[in-house]
Amino acid sequence: MLSKELTQALNEQVGHELSAHNHYLAVAVYFAKRSLDGWADFFFRQAEEERGHAMKIVRFLLDNDVAPYIPEAKEARPQYADAAAAVESAVKAEQTVTAQFEAIMAIAQKENDYRALPLLQWFLNEQIEEEATASKLLDIVKSGINLFQAQDYLPAPHAAGEAEAGAEA
Ligand SMILES: [Fe+2]
Ligand SMILES: [Fe+2]
Repeated sequence: MLSKELTQALNEQVGHELSAHNHYLAVAVYFAKRSLDGWADFFFRQAEEERGHAMKIVRFLLDNDVAPYIPEAKEARPQYADAAAAVESAVKAEQTVTAQFEAIMAIAQKENDYRALPLLQWFLNEQIEEEATASKLLDIVKSGINLFQAQDYLPAPHAAGEAEAGAEA
């Protein structure tokens, strides 16, 4: 049985993932509005992946006899000074989420919760990939390359993570 503290932390993380979904939708809209459809597609897909993360935690809680509440997701507006600022917001957001998972992992570790630890390790691995991908995107934008041409160099969509995100924990 999951502890109260761990249950609460995981349930809050559902909200952070839903907020990440909104955030990426806003970044996608920023690019779509400028006809940068390759960039937009990348972030629309990323948004879907964040929703998948929220669902993965919801399913895990259900499987562990918890009926999670659905937290309010933060509003996100596609207002960025430029493309670099939009992508930088993604890098920062991923770093924040990594820290959130590390904090939840510390709770699970302290409680010797062998149910939650594999799930949390999966998320941490996912975060390492997502941080790396977001940093690559930022390097591309900062290189000064034309953003339309840069669409040929966008990192491959995160297909493996997406498939796994929909799977049972
Ligand atoms: Fe996520
Ligand atoms: Fe993410």
